[in-house]
Amino acid sequence: DSKEAIVYVNGVRRVLPNGLAHLTVLEYLRDTGLTGTKLGCGEGGCGACTVMVSSYDSSLNKCMHYAVNACLAPLYSVEGMHIITVEGLGSHKRGLHPIQESLASSHGSQCGFCTPGFIMSVYALLRSSKSPPSEEQIEECLAGNLCRCTGYRPIIDAFRVFAK
Ligand code: FES
Repeated sequence: DSKEAIVYVNGVRRVLPNGLAHLTVLEYLRDTGLTGTKLGCGEGGCGACTVMVSSYDSSLNKCMHYAVNACLAPLYSVEGMHIITVEGLGSHKRGLHPIQESLASSHGSQCGFCTPGFIMSVYALLRSSKSPPSEEQIEECLAGNLCRCTGYRPIIDAFRVFAK
């Protein structure tokens, strides 16, 4: 049925059932078992809920990647788009993504609550950069991510390896 609302999540096509218009992207993800994306403040201030949303921009003729606060985004605002969550990057079972690996080995994750959000912000930056970003760009992309445990130094240090 062409009227079906579709989203893609971590490479899998999902049909959105009717009656979900009240949900945010975050609620939808967590309700469907993807609990790596966290609810922190619920109002766009902490970045714990960051996911990457990709959509095709026909005027630019290319696929654009954005870090999005899933707690603020209405589910239907991403209709037809591709959501990548931290589960889509890697896990202990399948092997960690280099961004996850680097954050863990640099002791940039303590309680872990903010970790998926930091990972996804950097992932979205790397996916949208043609060449490696500068250290300043990496710091800037983390402006919306808060951490209460480690402080930011180990986190920034962990991501320095991805800078030019
Ligand atoms: Fe804090 Fe979304 S939960 S920004």
